[in-house]
Amino acid sequence: MSEPPPPVSGRRITLCVTGSIAAYKAAALLRLLRKAGASVEVVLSRAALEFVGPATFQGLNGKPPLSDLFDRAHGGELHVELARNSDALVIAPASADCLSRLAAGRADDLIAAIALSAHCPVLVAPAMHPNMWSHPATQRNVSTLTADGVRFAGPVDGEVASGERGLGRMAEPEQIALAISGLFSGGALSGQRLVITAGPTLEALDPVRSLTNRSSGKLGFALAERARSRGAEVTLIAGPVALPTPPGVRRVDVESALSLKQALWEALGADLSRADALIMAAAVADYRPRAASESKLKRSGPLTLELEPNPDLLAEVGARRTGARPVLVGFALETDSDERLIASAREKLTKKRVDLVVANHAAESIGRDDIRLTLVGPDTAAPFGPAPKAQAAERLLDWLSERLAE
Ligand SMILES: Cc1cc2nc3c(=O)[nH]c(=O)nc-3n(C[C@H](O)[C@H](O)[C@H](O)COP(=O)(O)O)c2cc1C
Repeated sequence: MSEPPPPVSGRRITLCVTGSIAAYKAAALLRLLRKAGASVEVVLSRAALEFVGPATFQGLNGKPPLSDLFDRAHGGELHVELARNSDALVIAPASADCLSRLAAGRADDLIAAIALSAHCPVLVAPAMHPNMWSHPATQRNVSTLTADGVRFAGPVDGEVASGERGLGRMAEPEQIALAISGLFSGGALSGQRLVITAGPTLEALDPVRSLTNRSSGKLGFALAERARSRGAEVTLIAGPVALPTPPGVRRVDVESALSLKQALWEALGADLSRADALIMAAAVADYRPRAASESKLKRSGPLTLELEPNPDLLAEVGARRTGARPVLVGFALETDSDERLIASAREKLTKKRVDLVVANHAAESIGRDDIRLTLVGPDTAAPFGPAPKAQAAERLLDWLSERLAE
């Protein structure tokens, strides 16, 4: 288990656990937070007590968890006091029921009452059956909560308690711990308008065939999720990938490089005034077929494809930018040695007139859940990882928030 980074040290975190089978994972999260130096109050909902025993949390935290809004051992208003004494309120796992009570502004149990009284950041890690997560009622609640400023960690795609697969599994404790530390990292992006591109492009050869690449879109989607969680307004322009849209993110689906170009200029505005930063994480095809056939190509001997170059979208944006905004981040993916990779990243930096190039090796990023990268600036080359892509996204957003604060 990796420890979350230091910003959590000395923070007062109220960790609320609601009624889901994933409740047992809250014990691992509590351990991570304690190890990182946070002081934690644990609150278990009545339903959570059906899944996990208070003794586990008492043992790990050195004090009994709370549960009762009308706890007689506490004089005064326990929920108001807890809210006032928290630097962050974390609900992990957050049940569908809990999300609905939070979205409605109810205060009918200790957790909902604390959430309604809290002025500190609130982070929820939903966990539920995929049918519950995708239900329009839950999605309405997620939109309401996002608009209210609640941050989300997950849910993620994977196996849920019933053995079925889908979107609804709780993010792993390490990921939630990372999101919690993101609340304190000083890397806030409140109100910043980010455009992020992600995934491959797909260039049609005929109505049924295409040229594409192996980009999974995972890093771009992680960037969108984490940026939204830091308070940014995020437009995610996504190539053809089957990844779920992170809560609160505006998604525009595209296929070809040319359709990405159109979506990009719409998102940025012709004078680039609609965005504070652009992160170009998509793997845009360098070439497209000169002419896509209108009917399916028939097999008959060797076939020569004639390709023509696609526009270099980042270079076009760089050429049009006159001031310091939007901050421009590009990617350099190569199969070369480290030295050649950094040199080519530097070349891209000046040629395309961008602020940062994220250099990475194909074998250490494409299609993987983790990544090793180097953040290449005009005079710097900061290596990072290998680490999960969510963690790499946080690192890149730390850089971006510093740059935007300048
Ligand atoms: C075995 C079992 C598993 C459950 N798992 C979940 C779950 O993963 N997510 C969820 O939203 N609700 C789940 N529920 C339903 C909630 O426990 C129920 O809606 C409860 O009212 C939640 O209350 P709370 O949010 O106050 O903890 C489960 C119920 C049972 C009986």
